[in-house]
Amino acid sequence: MDKLRINGQRLWDSLMEMGEIGGTEKGGCNRLAGTDLDKQARDLFCAWCEATGCEIKVDKFGNIFAKRPGINNELPSVATGSHLDTQPTGGKFDGVFGVLSGVEVLRTLHENNITTPTPIEVSVWTNEEGSRFQPAMQGSGVYVGRFDLQQELDKTDVNGLRLGDELARIGYLGEEELGSRNIGAFFEAHIEQGPILEDEEKRIGVVRLGQGIRWYNVEIQGQESHSGTTPMHLRKDAMVATGKIVAEIESLANRYDNGLGTVGFMQVYPNSRNTIPGNVKFSADLRNPNPDVLATMHEEFVAYCDAVAKERNLEITVDNFWYFAPVEFNASDDVKAATENLGYSHMDIYAGAGHDACYMADLVPAGMIFTPCENGISHNEIEYSSPEQCEDGANVLLHTMLTASKR
Ligand code: GLV
Ligand code: MN
Ligand code: MN
Ligand code: MN
Repeated sequence: MDKLRINGQRLWDSLMEMGEIGGTEKGGCNRLAGTDLDKQARDLFCAWCEATGCEIKVDKFGNIFAKRPGINNELPSVATGSHLDTQPTGGKFDGVFGVLSGVEVLRTLHENNITTPTPIEVSVWTNEEGSRFQPAMQGSGVYVGRFDLQQELDKTDVNGLRLGDELARIGYLGEEELGSRNIGAFFEAHIEQGPILEDEEKRIGVVRLGQGIRWYNVEIQGQESHSGTTPMHLRKDAMVATGKIVAEIESLANRYDNGLGTVGFMQVYPNSRNTIPGNVKFSADLRNPNPDVLATMHEEFVAYCDAVAKERNLEITVDNFWYFAPVEFNASDDVKAATENLGYSHMDIYAGAGHDACYMADLVPAGMIFTPCENGISHNEIEYSSPEQCEDGANVLLHTMLTASKR
């Protein structure tokens, strides 16, 4: 069993085939949650898993579970999984690598006629990206009970389309109750999405922690009026207030160790050259691995927005609709042991992005395996990990799961 390895070429071919679904001209992927492309990707995943003798179930939030029987099917499964949805200008690896590494584990067990002590499962979580519908890690969040099922099904995209309707339309609104599966441990392989492993020349990152995240919707209500006739001191310019807040988010993040702050989405009303903007809506994303520091960043951010509202006589609402507290991965020693047995270089690391494993850690022992990606670039069409890097990560996943199944 120690000599067992996944098939790196087959994993790579599957990554490339999946990447054609929603493939972009620049070599990336645009496969938003709940779209026809999401359906195509899910269908392909299910077909691949069925070919290895798995039983497929879909739950009431569209999460998919492919289960390969073990010797004792009463025992909790050892599970892995990630997501098939991407950012609008995403790559071929974020999420997909974890899902297809799981498929590769199934294929490797199948072709070697190995029956594991416990069942093995691979899951696909609905809307991990949080791009079309918010928040991120929505499917795993609903699964573990962090979010209310109905409330999340009722979420709409910028065109008013409801997530529950979109899942039904693509045939992935299933029957299973959320959180009802018999899972004993969860592992997720993922590209690092940052530059550290490459820089340190390590093959594997043993993920010890997922950092804290706060997501906000900010709305500034000023007054639109003529850009040629309204003196500067009589304006209620929602865009200028926005500019101040965007700049503050950068300085706020820079004031704290490991602080991060981003404004990535904005809608300006009426968005006309010679009308002073009366209303701006934008997103804010604050992150820190230390919960106390993140709490301070939050307080300072809200206070700054209040001060701008007072100073400029505008209305500013700040809705912190998602808080993800930092999470420790308590099965990361299993990942480390598998990596060492394979003889791969490694280091401890923390996850800057959100991942489904972060929510699964609420329910079961969980761990994550990071692999390097070129120049640390992700959420970008040029995102790239080499075939060898992908192969390493999937081999670590295989051996981590095999060991966990034997316990
Ligand atoms: C979501 O997973 C994020 O990290 O933004
Ligand atoms: Mn991801
Ligand atoms: Mn992502
Ligand atoms: Mn993510």
